[in-house]
Amino acid sequence: MTERSAPTSNEAAPDAQGSPGLENLLTEDRRFPPSAEFAAQANATADAYAWANADRPGYWADQARELISWSTPFTQTLDWSDAPFARWFADGRLNAAYNAVDRHVEEGRGDRVALHFEGEGGDTRTLTYADLLREVSKAANAFAALGVGTGDRVAIYLPLIPEAVITMLACARIGAPHSVVFGGFSAEALSSRILDAEAKLVVTADGGFRRGKPSALKPAVDEALEKGAPSVSHVVVVRRTGQPVEWTAGRDVWWHEAVDAASSQHTPVDVDAEHPLFILYTSGTTGKPKGIFHTTGGYLTQAAYTHLNVFDLKPETDVYWCTADVGWITGHTYVVYGPLINGATQVIYEGTPDTPHRGRWWEIVQKYGVTILYTAPTAIRTCMKWGEEIPSNFDLSSLRVLGSVGEPINPEAWMWYRRVIGADRTPIVDTWWQTETGAIMISPLPGVTETKPGSAQVPLPGIAADVVDDDAQPVPNGGGGYLVLTEPWPAMLRGIWGDPERYKDTYWSRFKDIYFAGDGAKKDDDGDIWLLGRVDDVMNVSGHRLSTTEIESALVSHPWVAEAAVVGATDETTGQAVVAFVILRSDVAEGNAADAATVQETLRTHVAKEIGPIAKPRQILVVAELPKTRSGKIMRRLLRDVAEHRQVGDSTTLADSSVMDLIAQGLAKPA
Ligand code: WT7
Repeated sequence: MTERSAPTSNEAAPDAQGSPGLENLLTEDRRFPPSAEFAAQANATADAYAWANADRPGYWADQARELISWSTPFTQTLDWSDAPFARWFADGRLNAAYNAVDRHVEEGRGDRVALHFEGEGGDTRTLTYADLLREVSKAANAFAALGVGTGDRVAIYLPLIPEAVITMLACARIGAPHSVVFGGFSAEALSSRILDAEAKLVVTADGGFRRGKPSALKPAVDEALEKGAPSVSHVVVVRRTGQPVEWTAGRDVWWHEAVDAASSQHTPVDVDAEHPLFILYTSGTTGKPKGIFHTTGGYLTQAAYTHLNVFDLKPETDVYWCTADVGWITGHTYVVYGPLINGATQVIYEGTPDTPHRGRWWEIVQKYGVTILYTAPTAIRTCMKWGEEIPSNFDLSSLRVLGSVGEPINPEAWMWYRRVIGADRTPIVDTWWQTETGAIMISPLPGVTETKPGSAQVPLPGIAADVVDDDAQPVPNGGGGYLVLTEPWPAMLRGIWGDPERYKDTYWSRFKDIYFAGDGAKKDDDGDIWLLGRVDDVMNVSGHRLSTTEIESALVSHPWVAEAAVVGATDETTGQAVVAFVILRSDVAEGNAADAATVQETLRTHVAKEIGPIAKPRQILVVAELPKTRSGKIMRRLLRDVAEHRQVGDSTTLADSSVMDLIAQGLAKPA
């Protein structure tokens, strides 16, 4: 390998918090050109970049006409006159569920399998597109009968079972924006999302199966609604686990009663292209999650386009599997809308990768003959840890494209994915995007791009991204800075629900007229993009976005805690892990309460209750002081050094320079 020049410190991205093994990115020079065989059959072609560059909106308009069925064709493409509020295809009308389901049945594809569902306990269900049409229509009729109309919001709190997909599509069919809340979030988190969106209906289940056991969901809904939710009139409950549930008469309705009895004839409601399709909450740099909302025409266009081209989908023959839950944007775009719009056959799996054994995923790949697999680096690193003998016991030869998403993938994990899962043969697409972008933005194209382990490489055709310095100037090749998007794109968020000012502030105020993504990035000598992690107070744990501020607020809401600072420390498996530094209230600190272990456990449980188990700190360190600048800002960079057992960096801007010594001494003391 030839040595590449190491970046000098002033070129480094500003305080980016990377995943494991990213330090040496620019010395990575392994290359994987597409095979002639793959290239010959690929959906994507190299000339797409030039076409799209010549007329970016025109390119997207072509995709919108080709991939989406419009009840009223659009004549306008992009309206950016009220920037940063975009309107795409605004005079067109369509229905998302019609595009995902009905048209496949109308065009003779009704017998094609849409969903192969695999429950954690091994129970299975197969739904063809015709089955899906019937189920979605019934659910739409049932929801309408419960008073849900076009424009009303529906909160969804379900495990990954077919009803989750059916519910999302039933909402889309009515034109009722859905707000899916990940089943791992707490009653508290669910409550704030229901209130913010003023949901009229909540769809949940008694529970789902998780690690071999039923895990309840309905109690969290009951608790969330007890806090008061005047907008909610009904709760529809799917019976999944058979656990006993509390019942509120007049409010709660069983799915199997309401939906099964409903008619299977339902006319999809045509909506404007800019009608909101869904809201999805994601963590930002403040304590309050942001309700990112997406609209219909542009979102569906880019979802379908990217799913077809980035994964090289051949709908007649491929079996596609994206391991994400529908509670995340990946599940929205690459489990529900992208694949179904394209008429794909896909697998959905309810459970965890190690239940009942660590080969479960590979058993599923073998069983269904999965050809395209889309997952997260954290899962790949976990499988690496478990050992390659496990996947090697299964026939994975059906796989032909592998995707990665959610966090930077370290070259070592990329190489393992390609060699062990992909038999040194399959292209890997490392796809960069966000809840806000709605769909993939930066990724190699299989059959076109010569890939580099660890790099998402190039903006897709029709997408304009760059890496800029503090003054918004593009950095030269070899340099580092902030990732930005310089032109509007069809699937971009249309705003933050109910808070247009926060939308402008968060994404459009850092640099004039360009979108600030919050990620640090570098350009290599070829101009390819390498993502380095967040540059704001957002952590990425197992590909899930968590806010340092949100966890800090959860901690200080506990009576024992006076002050808290949270950082994301590099973790070999999860990318980052939550490490909290807390100052206890003096009465607790003075010893009438708990020992260190009790403090840890109590506060970890408290965070799980406030936000959800995914936000639980890996470690909680009790300290006497926190490092702050003279203006009172916590210097998380220094705490990250401590959490990652590094020499503590430059602390000259601290108001009190002895603080770091105090922390170091305190940590050295036995608990
Ligand atoms: C953040 C967005 C996009 C769906 C899953 C996460 C990080 C995402 C990559 C990638 C490096 C990545 C970024 C981004 N991220 N994909 N391929 N390489 N980083 O969605 O919760 O909205 O998080 O995930 O930091 O900003 P999200």
